[in-house]
Amino acid sequence: MKALYVKTYGCQMNVYDSARMADLLAPLGYAPADAAEGADMVILNTCHIREKAAEKVYSELGKLKKLKEAKAKDGGRMMIAVAGCVAQAEGEEIVRRQSAVDLVVGPQSYHRLPEMIARIARSGGQALETDFPVEDKFDALPVQTGVEGPAAFLTVQEGCDKFCTFCVVPYTRGGEFSRPAAQVLDEARRLVELGAREITLLGQNVNAYAHDDWTLARLLHALARIDGLARLRYTTSHPRDMTDDLIAAHRDLPQLMPYLHLPVQSGSDAILEAMNRQHSADDYRRIVERVREARPDLALSSDFIVGFPGESDKDFDDTMTLVREVGYAQAFSFKYSKRPGTPASAARKQIPEEVKSARLAALQALLSEQQAAFGKSCEGRTLCVLFEKPGRREGQAVGRSPYLQPVHVEGAAALIGQVRDVTVVEAQPNSLKGVLSQ
Ligand code: SAH
Ligand code: SF4
Ligand code: F3S
Repeated sequence: MKALYVKTYGCQMNVYDSARMADLLAPLGYAPADAAEGADMVILNTCHIREKAAEKVYSELGKLKKLKEAKAKDGGRMMIAVAGCVAQAEGEEIVRRQSAVDLVVGPQSYHRLPEMIARIARSGGQALETDFPVEDKFDALPVQTGVEGPAAFLTVQEGCDKFCTFCVVPYTRGGEFSRPAAQVLDEARRLVELGAREITLLGQNVNAYAHDDWTLARLLHALARIDGLARLRYTTSHPRDMTDDLIAAHRDLPQLMPYLHLPVQSGSDAILEAMNRQHSADDYRRIVERVREARPDLALSSDFIVGFPGESDKDFDDTMTLVREVGYAQAFSFKYSKRPGTPASAARKQIPEEVKSARLAALQALLSEQQAAFGKSCEGRTLCVLFEKPGRREGQAVGRSPYLQPVHVEGAAALIGQVRDVTVVEAQPNSLKGVLSQ
């Protein structure tokens, strides 16, 4: 057996892709390892979304180069592959800057890894594949032979046609593409046979899913009929694609968890316009209202960017106001990061770093307050928890609430893989403590 170490950065779609790359390499004799030291193959599955994320890759490659040299001294060979969105965006530069890299493969062409490896093994040198091939990557991937736990990811949609002015995704992942429903349903059934009890449907714009007559709502209805599949989720959604049938699915499908990650980015109409989000802050408020009408216990999450070019104090206040009005169970927030080739990176009114930092601190303080209040509001409630893995202490198990909060329960280790009612006894900063309900 050869050792394969995969390090994953970025979003859940990368997590899914990393697992699929491991599936793809298993027939070649590669088995997953926990560390890069001594591995025969190391894959960095990278993210290009912000500058910091992309920079990490080069420093990581510097460290890997040393491990590769150490392995060569012992007469072994470590292959280094860079996959994911940095590979797509900066493939040529990676090959040029780091001679230790053997392979560069983009998110749409990683199904070609086995032939690339064979080619290098035969003739040496570096291999680069970053086109968006015409063949279906998903058709070329082998069937899954295992799941990492009872909560599985399933990519149903890739790419993006929205072109928000700050974002690299349309360039790194290409245009919107939705997998055929039959293929998705087959994969879901297989995941359930392998032990999955919950599936999260993934896509950069998952609610733009469209294949033949299928919408995301129809897909969720079909998935809800799979025996043994207890819980469904989907992420990430764009406000513009929150259609009536999808909102109704939150009312009609008990399997669909009452939690929605719906990024708004900003509460200012001027900034939303400059970002090309194609909706106003009030449009977003109305959508939130309608989803909450459909499912009153629904909890919300979002992404925010502060310090987008031209953002005034007033624009930022509008974001704070929107956050106060909506009330989030959880959220991600980022300083605007200039990305090469995106329209916003060329805007003249860039915001100074210290202003970005101050705004981010203020927003994060408010969001943490809301997250803590939401946790507190769960105390005394009975929530259904899917137990995913052992906790740190003997006999303890950790699961997730419907709202994605980690829940720790003592004496529940035997329940991993099961969905059980848990009474929340205490909210901690990033998790809940519970006891099994009788
Ligand atoms: N498709 C999703 C977002 C994918 S990227 C959507 O439209 O909501 C995940 C998050 O990263 C975004 O929601 C945004 O908040 C953040 N992000 C993207 N580009 C960024 C940039 N240039 N600077 C800072 N944050 C960014
Ligand atoms: Fe990026 Fe906007 Fe597409 Fe989301 S919708 S992936 S933020 S371009
Ligand atoms: Fe990052 Fe690519 Fe995902 S840029 S956020 S890994 S789609």
